[in-house]
Amino acid sequence: MANFSPSFLDEVLSRTDLVEIIARHVELKKSGSNMMGLCPFHNEKSPSFSVSADKQLYYCFGCGKGGGPFQFLIEHDGYSFPEAVEYLAEKVGMEVPQDAQRQTGDEAREKKAYEMLVRASEAMSRALTAPTGSKAAEYLKQRDLPASIIRDYGIGYVPDGYGFMNKVFGSDARTNAQLEAIGLLFKGDHGYGDRFRDRLMFTIRDRRGRVVGFGGRVLGTGEPKYLNSPETNWFHKSDLLYGFSEHRDCIRKSKQLVVVEGYMDVLALATHDLKFGLAPLGTAIGERQIREIFRLCDSPVFSFDGDRAGRQAAWRALERMMPLLKAELTPRFLYLPEGEDPDSLLKTEGGQAFQSRLADESKPVLETWLLGLKNLAGQGADGRARMAKKADAMLATMTDSYLRQAWQQEVEKATGISLQQQRRHVTATPSPAANSEIAELNKIEDRFISGLMQKTERFRHLPDCAKNFFIGNDGVKSLYLRAFSIIADAKDNNTDIARQLTREFPDSQTMISRWVNQATVQDIEYESLLLDMESNDIRWHLKRGPGLSETVRLQKRMSELKSQQRKLTELLNETGA
Ligand code: CTP
Ligand code: MN
Repeated sequence: MANFSPSFLDEVLSRTDLVEIIARHVELKKSGSNMMGLCPFHNEKSPSFSVSADKQLYYCFGCGKGGGPFQFLIEHDGYSFPEAVEYLAEKVGMEVPQDAQRQTGDEAREKKAYEMLVRASEAMSRALTAPTGSKAAEYLKQRDLPASIIRDYGIGYVPDGYGFMNKVFGSDARTNAQLEAIGLLFKGDHGYGDRFRDRLMFTIRDRRGRVVGFGGRVLGTGEPKYLNSPETNWFHKSDLLYGFSEHRDCIRKSKQLVVVEGYMDVLALATHDLKFGLAPLGTAIGERQIREIFRLCDSPVFSFDGDRAGRQAAWRALERMMPLLKAELTPRFLYLPEGEDPDSLLKTEGGQAFQSRLADESKPVLETWLLGLKNLAGQGADGRARMAKKADAMLATMTDSYLRQAWQQEVEKATGISLQQQRRHVTATPSPAANSEIAELNKIEDRFISGLMQKTERFRHLPDCAKNFFIGNDGVKSLYLRAFSIIADAKDNNTDIARQLTREFPDSQTMISRWVNQATVQDIEYESLLLDMESNDIRWHLKRGPGLSETVRLQKRMSELKSQQRKLTELLNETGA
């Protein structure tokens, strides 16, 4: 892995604006000394995601994610650490140091692959507007796709015959091997050949918007109708959703998401300004994709064809979804009229009518489940028994125990049978990152350290005894002690403790981000916390039975602290805090 010097990283960070990076995805509003918005890492209705522009750290009080600019790019946009550093360095106009740029063979190859995939996509776009692409361009017109969509979603064309890829990239042995690795050439008995020929091409991107593969449709009729890139190191079908990087922000903003079957459905929706469609890549939707969908939106609509195959696909999706369901999630299922898909309906009815279908004709997941069970089980007493049995087995896969009980009652009502409850794995959904270290800190320690992290000057004015303050958690205590030496070594007054500590202790950045973004510790509260910390410290010493003179000294100090505390409390009451 690339090795960047601390001073280089510091320089990159000092020129970077975290707020700008986050504002691409989150609408931030000023709140006190920080900015607040809806968390991009989990679903929420009221903002608990805080960004400190001053300290360049973010923290979500809902899900516990936090960190600085590098961390955000890594966790939200899927960058690796070196990629995040290079990206930001480039953005702020810094040269990446030579020795850091020297990449391992793997990294270089990886980078090359992504570059080639983009170039391939661009070449396909050009081929669409070239004379050889006229047939494809005509086809797109017939399907009502406007130029803006064709451009924004990277729709292109590959001509018939062999040799298109070699014309773009050259044909030496190494290039051919690379083209094979990214799924654009196949190797047959007579050497390499183009995988895609005379097809309309759909560019497929990953979460980060990098081109990773393609879907190719025949013009008109022919088999196979769609041909996709093969699985490669970069193209994992079961992890990808078509439209994800293009629609992520719009889905968050509109709080709408509809899962459709095909590329053309996603694009037809976008053409009607409904930029919240996502589609799996020709395979049944899997657990990882559903997880991703729920992270974006808590009320997605899964749409299916109204025919038998569509109902089967819906049932499979429902089975996959059961373990991920929570009471807070409200997915819905929509069956379209037989023989129609969103693309064909949008063509005949328009966007408004499709929106109404999403709202009025979709059914809650529970209703869909009960109906599906009934259809599977059939009529009569034995049908009811089969339904109860099947329901019981499926309920066992649910992890939200409240929701499971509610659903169980519904099945019992429908069948008149009480369920066995043979629970296979009753693992409760783990609560997200209630940071265990923080849980160990008591309220006073927590607010005290928060106060110090928020205002570095306070560190400079701590009394001598502060170094020995009792802090329950060892990790936190070592951060606290390190802060003293940073202050002692600081050449000027510009050193910011929170920022410095996050750089030195990347593993603690979530905790530090939380302190920084917590409700501001005002001066009066801070003074009071400082007195509390010292009092606690004295109590601890007194318990150890120090000599007589020391006991007297400590008791005297204790009563001083108490009277100061009283004065502060009066002051606090007066200011109405
Ligand atoms: N698909 C595939 N391979 C096939 C057929 C379909 O990968 N041989 C995938 C494609 O992702 C396609 C989706 O399944 O987008 C839905 O297929 P289908 O309903 O047949 O096509 P449409 O999306 O309706 O495409 P069109 O409207 O162009 O016919
Ligand atoms: Mn279609």
